[in-house]
Amino acid sequence: MCGIIGYAGKTEAVPVLLDGLERLEYRGYDSAGVAVVSSDGKLQVRKSRGRLAVLRSLLSGEKPLSGEIGIGHTRWATHGEPNDVNAHPHVGQENKIAVVHNGIIENYLEIKNSLMRKGISFSSDTDTEVIVQLLEYYYKKDSNLMDAVYRVLSRIKGAYAMGILCSDYPGQMVAVRKDAPLLIGFGDDGNYIASDVTALLSHTRTVTYLEDDEVAVITADTVQIYDSDRCCTEKEKHVIEWDAAAAEKGGYAHFMLKEIMEQPEAVRKTVSPRLADGKILLQELEDAGNIIQNISRIYIVACGSAYHVGMIGKYTLEKLLHIPVEACLASEFRYSEPILGETALVIVISQSGETLDSMAALREAKKRGSKVLSIVNVMGSSIARESDFVLYTWAGPEIAVATTKAYTTQMVLLIMLGVFFARKLKQMEEYDRIIEALIALPEKIKEVLKDLNHYQKIASRYFNHNRVFYMGRNVDYALGLEGSLKLKEISYIHSESYAAGELKHGTISLIEPGTLVVALATYAPLVEKSLSNIVEVKSRGAEVIGMTTEKTADIISSQASEMFVIPRTHPVLQPILGVIPLQLFAYYVALNRGCDIDKPRNLAKSVTVE
Ligand code: G6P
Repeated sequence: MCGIIGYAGKTEAVPVLLDGLERLEYRGYDSAGVAVVSSDGKLQVRKSRGRLAVLRSLLSGEKPLSGEIGIGHTRWATHGEPNDVNAHPHVGQENKIAVVHNGIIENYLEIKNSLMRKGISFSSDTDTEVIVQLLEYYYKKDSNLMDAVYRVLSRIKGAYAMGILCSDYPGQMVAVRKDAPLLIGFGDDGNYIASDVTALLSHTRTVTYLEDDEVAVITADTVQIYDSDRCCTEKEKHVIEWDAAAAEKGGYAHFMLKEIMEQPEAVRKTVSPRLADGKILLQELEDAGNIIQNISRIYIVACGSAYHVGMIGKYTLEKLLHIPVEACLASEFRYSEPILGETALVIVISQSGETLDSMAALREAKKRGSKVLSIVNVMGSSIARESDFVLYTWAGPEIAVATTKAYTTQMVLLIMLGVFFARKLKQMEEYDRIIEALIALPEKIKEVLKDLNHYQKIASRYFNHNRVFYMGRNVDYALGLEGSLKLKEISYIHSESYAAGELKHGTISLIEPGTLVVALATYAPLVEKSLSNIVEVKSRGAEVIGMTTEKTADIISSQASEMFVIPRTHPVLQPILGVIPLQLFAYYVALNRGCDIDKPRNLAKSVTVE
């Protein structure tokens, strides 16, 4: 949520910052800004409400800002509406220090009031401005930037990743973090900071992750990192495996479509290194594979689509393992007194590995004695680093705000984990069939993706419906939650997902002639029951799009106006194929409605506030 980029180097900073911001825009896009310090110590700031394109045109319409060091920010507003003044970077009243910030300063009002009593005036409504005003206030007293930084850190409460420039230190940038991601990149033509690795891929893949309470001082040639006691620390460098091209659109109209089409490959990359000699091999768990023997309950904790993967996991893992599995919204988890301890395993699922609620749930689980196993896409992310065990989804960078390939890879990995554990518990039937189905899965996904015209045609028939219901039973209910979320996120059509048997307990009163119902019936044991539910809504005038497998297509199509027919696979893997038509339907509906598909309004890809 919000993106930070910073550069200290040997070339002009503004183009580097704009390039980085473009790659970070998916983290927030209601305003953007840059600050640059020229070699003679002039601090220059430009910022504006709206997309990055507005800032670009502002910068191109004037004399170029010159300076080889700078910070940039793309914002997802929390405190203060999206406008020019609230955009970052923020500058102190002495115009000496500029700050970009991600996160929330919880005690900002108390600090703001105390600074105002000292005669300092504020221009924005943001929590971030207190950081920079406080920094300047201490700096004025001590005349030492690092002293001022440490004094500020001891005063502020909350979550933050920050980049700081001071006009008295023209070649130097300071970076700090606590509970919000920030990494440092080491390039040939300078050094970088970024909230997200995708911003750096075109410059460098060698990075180090800043830890909580560390402070980095970065110049074109040096990076020094200090801990909370101001002692210099040596940090390990990591090489990111993603390449820059993976974060480009590659000829597709939208990242979302590209990422949908990448699913066969993303699933293959996630599955195949974990299959050997006809077995599932999870090296990441090493000797700990047996932990499942002592586990009496599993919590799957996540947000958004990752939570919907957890819902699939609830149905599937419970069936495989015969132990209670609960899917929990991370934002509720730590406030709901979960029964934790040594015998509970907590599985955290997160694409970004930075979602604050998921991180907080992880910490709560560890504090209360449970082991945490995470399924994460971004290597080296905070959730990955703090978990006891990590399984990476090898989906590559996901840029579209609405997740697709991360979702499918999370699901396949969670199911593989379930099968792996079930075998450890010696209660795994059909193991070989599942392995065969896993091997065949990428090809089956390709089949679902073969006829894009079909999805396009159905979407153009229904794109102007203002209310859509998804319904299904068992894993189809969980799939419906994801299908409905996809549609809401990117097309702004109000949609709800219901367990098909529950519809008649109230919601069916909303069905009237013309209401669109997407009826999911891929879960073979309940196809006939789903059919009855379809008949119920049809007899009240609903238009039905049905989804099922080849085997039951005739049954469902007898009642549906349109059909999504997917190939069959092993039942535990079926939802992986089932989600794809729902992604494509949402995509083409949004396209027909002229929506900004990759950057839907009000959303952000990585949510690092509570
Ligand atoms: C945001 C994104 C969703 C995502 C959720 C969880 O809301 O828009 O697509 O599912 O965060 O993100 P995570 O990175 O933890 O999977």
